[in-house]
Amino acid sequence: MNDLSLTILPETPEDTEAIDRLNARTFGPGRFAKSAYRIREDAPHLLELSFTARVGTLLVGSVRLTPIVIGAAPALLLGPLTVEPPFRDRGIGLMLIERALKAARDKGHRLAVLVGDEPYYGKAGFKPVPKGRATMPGPVDPARLLVAELAPGAFDGVGGAIRPDWTR
Ligand SMILES: CC(C)(COP(=O)(O)OP(=O)(O)OC[C@H]1O[C@@H](n2cnc3c(N)ncnc32)[C@H](O)[C@@H]1OP(=O)(O)O)[C@@H](O)C(=O)NCCC(=O)NCCS
Repeated sequence: MNDLSLTILPETPEDTEAIDRLNARTFGPGRFAKSAYRIREDAPHLLELSFTARVGTLLVGSVRLTPIVIGAAPALLLGPLTVEPPFRDRGIGLMLIERALKAARDKGHRLAVLVGDEPYYGKAGFKPVPKGRATMPGPVDPARLLVAELAPGAFDGVGGAIRPDWTR
């Protein structure tokens, strides 16, 4: 990808429709049944920690971060992460994740979790949550529940139910 043509920008309210269409095309109607969607339904994502990828004016990718708690510990839920099929395998997905995590770290956030494939998200520092230590509000393959510490030791002693954080 020619760096000059790709821009990663914080999401704005004007992006909502294009992102909704992208996610609908990518994940289909089944997305609403997923545990992660249930959390996102109940708590809005943070625009300043959510990013879009554009080539020219065309929106080609999106990642969102939503405030949650794990037990009593504040954290962020990463996702959905989506890149338009013709623009995949050029590093855009990883760039979006890294940009969002950097913005989160800069604002003092300490933990991010997601439901996804460890071989992919491991590249951005995510590791499986030890089985049973944290639970989503619905069935999730434990091998796909991943956590990244944004500050050293941030996951030490943390566990419990993953829920939306209505206080933020
Ligand atoms: C997953 C997704 C966001 C990756 O975006 P991308 O811009 O293509 O990602 P990157 O260019 O940063 O990384 C591409 C690399 O990751 C690999 N990869 C992509 N998805 C993967 C997965 N689920 N598991 C393991 N590796 C994966 C690709 O094979 C490629 O490998 P290579 O670098 O060895 O060629 C994109 O494929 C997508 O939108 N998929 C559909 C939606 C989805 O599954 N989102 C994640 C939900 S958990």
